[in-house]
Amino acid sequence: MRLLVTPLTRRHLPEVVAIERASFARPWAPELFEAEIRHRHALPLVAQSLPAGMVVGYLCLWLVAEEVQVQNLAVHPAFRRRGVGRFLLAEGLREAHRRGARLATLEVRPSNLAARRLYASLGFVETGRRPGYYQAEGEDALLLDCRLEEAAWLRTGTGKALDHRRRSN
Ligand SMILES: CC(C)(COP(=O)(O)OP(=O)(O)OC[C@H]1O[C@@H](n2cnc3c(N)ncnc32)[C@H](O)[C@@H]1OP(=O)(O)O)[C@@H](O)C(=O)NCCC(=O)NCCS
Repeated sequence: MRLLVTPLTRRHLPEVVAIERASFARPWAPELFEAEIRHRHALPLVAQSLPAGMVVGYLCLWLVAEEVQVQNLAVHPAFRRRGVGRFLLAEGLREAHRRGARLATLEVRPSNLAARRLYASLGFVETGRRPGYYQAEGEDALLLDCRLEEAAWLRTGTGKALDHRRRSN
């Protein structure tokens, strides 16, 4: 699969919102994605499969000083386990690093084994736990971080055999 990672724009929103609804029990409202497009600290990205240009995943990052926070990440259900999530996250964190980020942080449900393995494969480690963070289920959040300077993939790539193009701008 050939992938193109580019900034999220309004024309991607219908596909992104559909993936969001297919991925989460409590999906973000479309307005939240629109706010990401406008906000100066936000770096929202989409991965499109080429040549058709279908949106197969998205990533919302926030850059505050030397920290980049992963706010949202999902891959189209039909395109999972093909390296899209890892590639998209690696590209997003690479761009955040170029912009000055040194530490990547995120929260994840302990029950979300797919996401936890993905994060671990990019060097995220557990640093703490927020009890009852996901209030509806009373589930804790695991706090993970990754020191970008120490992430070998930042220099060498993710090692996945994806034929891709980087951000076009
Ligand atoms: C988590 C998610 C983004 C992963 O995207 P993906 O494109 O399927 O992930 P990748 O193919 O890049 O997988 C990278 C690694 O993650 C792990 N992984 C991904 N899906 C997995 C699964 N279903 N079971 C176990 N491990 C999994 C594996 O270690 C995998 O590496 P491998 O294929 O070499 O074994 C995707 O499952 C998703 O959209 N889930 C719903 C939304 C969500 O939970 N987002 C994260 C919120 S914190």
